[in-house]
Amino acid sequence: MQVFVAPDTMRMWSLGERSKGHRVGVVPTMGALHEGHLALVDEARRRSDRVIVTIFVNPLQFNQSADFASYPQPIDDDLVACERAGVDAVYAPTASVMYPPGFQTHVEPGDLASRLEGPKRPGHFRGVATVVTKLLGATAPDLAVFGQKDFQQLVIIRRMVADLDLGIEICGVPIVRDADGLAKSSRNVLLTPADRAAAPVLSRALAACAAACQRGERSADSINRIATSLIEAEPRATLEYVDVVDTTTLRAVDRVEPGTAVLIAAWFGGVRLIDNLVLDGD
Ligand code: PAJ
Repeated sequence: MQVFVAPDTMRMWSLGERSKGHRVGVVPTMGALHEGHLALVDEARRRSDRVIVTIFVNPLQFNQSADFASYPQPIDDDLVACERAGVDAVYAPTASVMYPPGFQTHVEPGDLASRLEGPKRPGHFRGVATVVTKLLGATAPDLAVFGQKDFQQLVIIRRMVADLDLGIEICGVPIVRDADGLAKSSRNVLLTPADRAAAPVLSRALAACAAACQRGERSADSINRIATSLIEAEPRATLEYVDVVDTTTLRAVDRVEPGTAVLIAAWFGGVRLIDNLVLDGD
């Protein structure tokens, strides 16, 4: 497995592989790799001949410095996990390589970034869009794989790649969960045992929404209330939002239809968790 820290050597490797006729897939991550990330690697392996994982904790997308400071960075474990998963190359630049003195160009997403996570995390999606553009530029892939765990991020990146004519296929992978339903996240290790025990309320709330939808409930308000009341009944959870939205525009809907999703954000102690589920209303 090759490890690159500079964009030019990374790009040369990728273009070299592509010139030999290999399809190159990339999985952008911030490291602290878990089974959710590895599911993305598996999907990239299925869809391409060479797989690159990028590992970079992007300061530009953290709107709280404490969150950035506490973000886990087990780089040695991550490299072992990549090697075991059959990754061909890792791109792990430093912050000063990514943002050298004089850096001043950003990618500003539009309306999609003004909803849900947007107002709660000012500048977050600008940071994500900017770094993903740079990671795609450095890795020059045919395909990039993202998780549906960060649903809004995936929608914004699809839009960005289309809007900026980047010509890269974007692939979304379903959420990987722990046995008790909690969506796997690098931040889960920061939960206290009591908060870890309480956190599956998010996936239970989503499951309750899906069950109501299956029984024929189509009112977005009713679906919203089902999730809200379950999470508010959990004393360790501080609910930030439940939104029932159209999966393309991310705008709130009145009625549940195919392509409607429930998106949730909540705090457990100092840790902010998100989760979502696409409903199959018809
Ligand atoms: P990170 O949080 O490390 O996530 C990297 C990728 O793994 C994202 O596409 C995310 O949606 C996916 N992922 C995380 N947990 C998952 C789970 N439980 N199931 C499925 N996929 C999961 O997202 C980022 O990093 C950054 O914003 C990044 C895109 C790398 C830009 O810095």
